[in-house]
Amino acid sequence: MSMSKPPSSASAPAKLILCGEHAVVYGRPAIALPLAGVRANVQVDQGRPGSGITLRATNLHQEWKVDGASPDPLGELALATLHHLGIPPSDLVIMIDSAIPIAGGMGSGAAVATALVRALAAHIGCVLPAGEISALVYTCEQRYHGTPSGIDNTVIAHERPIWFERRMGSGQRRTVNHIEPVAIANPLTLVIGDTGVRSETRLPVGEVRQRWQADPTTYEALFDQVGSLVRQAREALAMGDHESLGPLLNENQRLLETMGVSSPELARLVQAARDAGASGAKLSGAGWGGVMLALADDDDITRRAIVGALKRAGAVQVLETQIESSVLV
Ligand code: PMV
Repeated sequence: MSMSKPPSSASAPAKLILCGEHAVVYGRPAIALPLAGVRANVQVDQGRPGSGITLRATNLHQEWKVDGASPDPLGELALATLHHLGIPPSDLVIMIDSAIPIAGGMGSGAAVATALVRALAAHIGCVLPAGEISALVYTCEQRYHGTPSGIDNTVIAHERPIWFERRMGSGQRRTVNHIEPVAIANPLTLVIGDTGVRSETRLPVGEVRQRWQADPTTYEALFDQVGSLVRQAREALAMGDHESLGPLLNENQRLLETMGVSSPELARLVQAARDAGASGAKLSGAGWGGVMLALADDDDITRRAIVGALKRAGAVQVLETQIESSVLV
């Protein structure tokens, strides 16, 4: 198929972990949500003959050529996608433009990667199934993060709320991801506050591992409590019962604090959101930095009060998002 086409573009959403982070690494469930309104965009255009593949991150003011011999993770993903599509590498300019905070727990890397795969497929007039996109992106995520649980690429490629659980497979030490769609009876209004503190996922993940190794009985019990509240959260979402959901999120924050993955900045934003009327608030993602989320009631006054309180409490960015209702089919 010829690649001489007009530019093609595609996008992918940010994600949030609603509840269950960290315990998910130890086999308990987590719920993740796509944020349809906060997206990474990728445009693919024909390059000059002989120019190879150029990647351009417009909002980072960076441009680089994909080195076929030792490509960077995104370049490698572009080559793997072309290979997957059955197309030889040609002259392409791939432009990335993302509104998702980097290293903030919102899945920016997986969203850029997903948009890139979608845009390359669109460039040859092809739509890849979500499962294939997710698998390509997971390989790229491994280059960035080592051993990601797979929750980011899954929720972003499928672009719907998911229940995610790692289960021991039949082979020794092998885990199998169990993924189910999550029903949301009533739209959820979330306000997201970014601490502006960038923290690598592997650091708090390592801290929890050390604590678990030192005191497995206590930590297994903590993870069980998280698992139990995640199950209750799924029920509450399915019933549209936001009154029950808020306290569950608060309980999740308390358990994450006990695990040692909150931070003074996160705790300040969480408290400010609750004081302003959020029925629940917690950190989201690995912790020690990144973002927190607050559950706001439907009324504009509370929502605006939470936004203002988060800004006053030091959030560098505040995003408002609505998670639409979704039924199981
Ligand atoms: O900060 P994020 O969005 O990469 O989330 C990490 C979630 C953890 O449960 C802490 C780790 C994982 O791999 O699931």
